[in-house]
Amino acid sequence: MSVTLLAIESSCDETAAAVIQDGNILCNIVASQRIHEKYGGIVPELASRAHQQHIIPVVSQALLQANIQKTDLNAVACTSGPGLLGALLVGVSFSKAFASALNIPVIKVNHMKAHILAHFVDDPKPTFPFICLTVSGGHTQLVIVKSHLDMEVVGETQDDAVGEAFDKTAKLMGLPYPGGPLIDSYAKQGNPLAFPFPTVEMPGYSFSFSGIKTAFMYFLKKNTALDPEFIQKNLPDICASVQHTLIEVLMRKLKRLVADTGITRVAIAGGVSANSGLRKAMEQKRDTDGWDVYIPAFEYCTDNAAMIAVAGYYQYLEKDFADWDLSPEPRLRIGGGL
Ligand code: KG4
Ligand code: ZN
Repeated sequence: MSVTLLAIESSCDETAAAVIQDGNILCNIVASQRIHEKYGGIVPELASRAHQQHIIPVVSQALLQANIQKTDLNAVACTSGPGLLGALLVGVSFSKAFASALNIPVIKVNHMKAHILAHFVDDPKPTFPFICLTVSGGHTQLVIVKSHLDMEVVGETQDDAVGEAFDKTAKLMGLPYPGGPLIDSYAKQGNPLAFPFPTVEMPGYSFSFSGIKTAFMYFLKKNTALDPEFIQKNLPDICASVQHTLIEVLMRKLKRLVADTGITRVAIAGGVSANSGLRKAMEQKRDTDGWDVYIPAFEYCTDNAAMIAVAGYYQYLEKDFADWDLSPEPRLRIGGGL
């Protein structure tokens, strides 16, 4: 008998639904929220309201595109955390109501584990164990992935996430939110060594990005005082230098973990894995050091429901169903020692 799941993602500013059947994604629908652009960051209340508006059309479209009847579904999987409380509440409440009406179980999915499981949507799929550098707007983690569901966080940021560092430095230059993709695109025409920025060496596999942001703020202040058009005149070089610095910090710790564990299957996941500089740095390690490198397709880097569906599918096989009193878990973590 085949297993068919509906998956829902609503942790941040993307309302998404996907259908998975026997491990194969049948559709992957994402409704993005442009409303936050003019505020320079995500406004949680506006995100919740937009999820509320989008969720039913997105689910209807997913079922239609997958050519699936509601009664074909075996379970509903949804992101329970981490994320914004009000945003998560929409997806979790919808999933509970939908599953309960159909008398099928609901499965709660950890958004950060799901980012990693995006590598199991398409081929080639990594074999276990592998290392994953998970880099998004809210997280920067080094994870040892032992199986589809068993993952250990061995290092993470002690302050800002790297996506946040991209977005905040972009904002300081007057670029709109989210600034990460814009820095990436300007960086392509710039010199990464034009402006050196200091980095802090953190212990073990920990990261810190708040110092880079502060150093960048003083760098801009000093240079725009000398020349008010400094940013406009040097935008590609500034972007390339910031991106180079952030990627250096990520790659330094990643290389250390590979050396310490001897695991050379290495994946990247999360929104920042769309960054062309990071993708290039990973490809270089494949060419020079023989790493087996796994880079997700662009559509599976940023938030989507296909990754929630894959996580939900493996949890379904383990009969890992949630209780009906399931509620959002904004600070949900991946287990494991640091
Ligand atoms: O995973 P994601 O979609 O949402 C969270 O769970 O946070 O990640 C969003 C983050 C934002 O900070 C955004 O600026 C960053 O990913 N991002 C990028 C790129 N594309 C998205 N950062 C750098 N370069 C990119 N090409
Ligand atoms: Zn995410």
